[in-house]
Amino acid sequence: MFSEEGQKELERMLSRYPIKRNALLPLLHLAQQENGGWLSEESIKYVAEICEVSETHVEGVISFYTMYKLKKPGKYHLQICTCVPCCLVGGEELLEHTESKLGIHAGSTGDDGMFSIEEMECIGACSFAPAIIVNEDYHEKVNPESMDQLIADLSNNP
Ligand code: FES
Repeated sequence: MFSEEGQKELERMLSRYPIKRNALLPLLHLAQQENGGWLSEESIKYVAEICEVSETHVEGVISFYTMYKLKKPGKYHLQICTCVPCCLVGGEELLEHTESKLGIHAGSTGDDGMFSIEEMECIGACSFAPAIIVNEDYHEKVNPESMDQLIADLSNNP
């Protein structure tokens, strides 16, 4: 199920958790990485087996955390914060601008699979609002112009 490197990481993780179910969160993170940024039914089943819990239990945990994805994201997953501190300095306008620029709405992926957008609650970078995360990288004090530049740069790296 996992790549060779992923399997090694799995074994390292399990060695740190004598009770397998306690490894559920990091294992879901690893499974998501291994599956291209989302958790398929097979990924969930695999993690449930390893952690010796039911698939229903795993699904319950996944539904609680926004960092776990049940749909395949774009190659570049743009997570845009629209919580109050970011909104006060243009977070909502930034989301609208990005949706318009890419021709997709938050919660969806473009037809070419390059970009997806997700509207986020606070991502913990309020001091640098408006903040976004692209895949796992934070970008701070983003405005429509810097978003356009970012999209152009990412588009040149398909
Ligand atoms: S409100 Fe946007 S990062 Fe905290």
